[in-house]
Amino acid sequence: MKHFLNTQDWSRADLDALLAQAAAFKRNKLGDALKGRSIALVFFNPSMRTRTSFELGAFQLGGHAIVLQPGKDAWPIEFDLGTVMDGDTEEHIAEVARVLARYVDLIGVRAFPKFVDWSVDREDRVLKAFAKYSTVPVINMETITHPCQELAHALALQEHFGTSDLRGRKYVLTWTYHPKPLNTAVANSALTIATRMGMDVTLLCPTPEYVLDERYIGWANDNVAESGGSFQVSHDIESAYRGADVVYAKSWGALPYFGNWAPEKPIRDRYKHFIVDEAKMALTDNGVFSHCLPLRRNVKATDAVMDSPRCIAIDEAENRLHVQKAVMAALMRQE
Ligand code: CP
Repeated sequence: MKHFLNTQDWSRADLDALLAQAAAFKRNKLGDALKGRSIALVFFNPSMRTRTSFELGAFQLGGHAIVLQPGKDAWPIEFDLGTVMDGDTEEHIAEVARVLARYVDLIGVRAFPKFVDWSVDREDRVLKAFAKYSTVPVINMETITHPCQELAHALALQEHFGTSDLRGRKYVLTWTYHPKPLNTAVANSALTIATRMGMDVTLLCPTPEYVLDERYIGWANDNVAESGGSFQVSHDIESAYRGADVVYAKSWGALPYFGNWAPEKPIRDRYKHFIVDEAKMALTDNGVFSHCLPLRRNVKATDAVMDSPRCIAIDEAENRLHVQKAVMAALMRQE
């Protein structure tokens, strides 16, 4: 049984088919791929876009979505094996996933890192535990990667450039300031999909400490070897932006400080000038800007950049609906 945990697990042909199906759903929004079917959406963290687009997507395909928030409106879940459960958790994932799978046809999971120990968080234990025990397909709704966002981003770029072939486009993933050390998921995912699509990708970040986990750097290098693109890391704003076709912004915490964030704060505070502004965008080749949202205006990107016709963040957000319908339909078809 196939899950949708990471795009890296799916072939390029399968991803192209998902994007084509998403474009078809964008033209004709209603379908019956989930008729009489249901999906449980398990949220350990807040959401606006993901929750809305999955619920609506299931409805538009004839299905039904049930939202569960463990620890809020559902029992807190234990994930460790062998634990004497005399603390706060009320039931074990071994029961939760198997019971849900008797009720529903798909399970979506959002589980951000705990931000205490990256060596633990990088194992994606919550998502993997659902996939281990569930007898129905599991969809990653953002954990340490965000594959649904990747597809929405790729579709928005294909629409913008008027072609499904993104090879040779100069793509910059830039770190931006945020007052808090955020999840690396969208950055990991942006690198993954941009290199998979054969673009010439630059990861722009303030210092080597902000380079992403070696797993995703490895995926980026593997992908360009296959796709014919290129991948480099840069700490130089001007050269990274110059001639870019795409600027994608995201903030994230520096992994060496994971769990001990106090010393990272003064470092990140030195790099507020990484904000995406008109002066930087003027260095690009009439480049397009996007972000996964939510975005703090005038912290990560200026009002002028967000309100520019070159900003496709709203298109990308809309595409979440279409690509997730394609993913749900594809996972249903495998039966
Ligand atoms: N981009 C994204 O996943 O948005 P939400 O956190 O609002 O779901």
